[in-house]
Amino acid sequence: MSEKKSILDYETVALDDAKSALVIIDQTQLPYKTEILSLTTQKEIWTAIYLLQVRGAPAIGVAAAIGIYLAAKEIKADTYEDFYAQFKKAKEYLASARPTAVNLFWALNRMDDVAKANSDKTVAEVKEILHKEAVAIKEEDIWVCKQIGEYALTLVKPGDGLLTHCNAGQLATAKYGTATAAMYLGQERGYNFKVFADETRPLLQGARLTAYELHESGIDVTLICDNMSATVMKNGWVNAVFVGCDRVAANGDTANKIGTSVVATVAKRYNVPVYICAPTSTIDLNTKTGADIHIELRPAEEVTEMWYSNRMAPAGVKVFNPCFDVTDNDLIAGIITEYGIARAPYSESLKEIFAKKEAAKAAR
Ligand code: MRU
Repeated sequence: MSEKKSILDYETVALDDAKSALVIIDQTQLPYKTEILSLTTQKEIWTAIYLLQVRGAPAIGVAAAIGIYLAAKEIKADTYEDFYAQFKKAKEYLASARPTAVNLFWALNRMDDVAKANSDKTVAEVKEILHKEAVAIKEEDIWVCKQIGEYALTLVKPGDGLLTHCNAGQLATAKYGTATAAMYLGQERGYNFKVFADETRPLLQGARLTAYELHESGIDVTLICDNMSATVMKNGWVNAVFVGCDRVAANGDTANKIGTSVVATVAKRYNVPVYICAPTSTIDLNTKTGADIHIELRPAEEVTEMWYSNRMAPAGVKVFNPCFDVTDNDLIAGIITEYGIARAPYSESLKEIFAKKEAAKAAR
């Protein structure tokens, strides 16, 4: 009899080149149903990103890279100019799926740069180069998450209590997650962390995804409602907060799932350090401060009706449903990247991280 597959045995985002499809786990169905979607049209890919069937900044980036490669593959053009005009349109379309996670734009721009740098090649050759780049973006994400996990592990000790918000786990990346990477690596090394996962209203990424994937992997995870973080911190059960991010501005202000700034504010009160786990692909030095980050607003139904058998708010009531909030840089103890840990002042340390990245690239 074959052993039951864990959710961690599935790939969050994958390319099926033979079928010209983006293959994802439909995250809106978890944890009650594991449904694998094979998306072949640009409309399907756009919708999957918009509906959060694939979600989490790095996973959105990988999905966009594969998505734009698939768009390029279908383009019929005899000249590079004709090809590139169609490629640009497809890029703009995918870029409109969600506004906050900078990885969407980062991945599409990286694919665009490659297309532009090879304008002297045949259309068939450019398509092959785009294929390689999409695969590289996904492979790099695995390495990036592992590095973040290694750096994060240096900040905690065996037996520590860790709190996380939303899902910055394997389901949000190609593997390991960002905020969860230290948890998975610690699990392999016998650290016995005790993790608190905020349920994360309104879409419950913490309950449905983080608690699910950590529980499946055997990590000691306790689910709490979003309004319980002060209690667990006051009880002294949390030694560090690890969260992901959707966009880090040049000054360190960080957009992440709505409620992150509440956690960070509470953590400051109880002297618990808050670490942002940030691939450099999520750091946007072109965005000066958190005030410049476009925060996605989502439908009211997510708050009033979704998940309930009967609606839980009066019909027609006004609803404010921002998908992300900005944690001010003074609430952040460190920003953990694949090239090291940045500390305040972030306007300097983030530049140093990018200089390290450039140096590593040059040395390759
Ligand atoms: O709306 P979502 O579910 O895409 O929001 C995701 C988050 O806020 C994550 O914390 C963030 O993207 C980091 S994922 C490594």
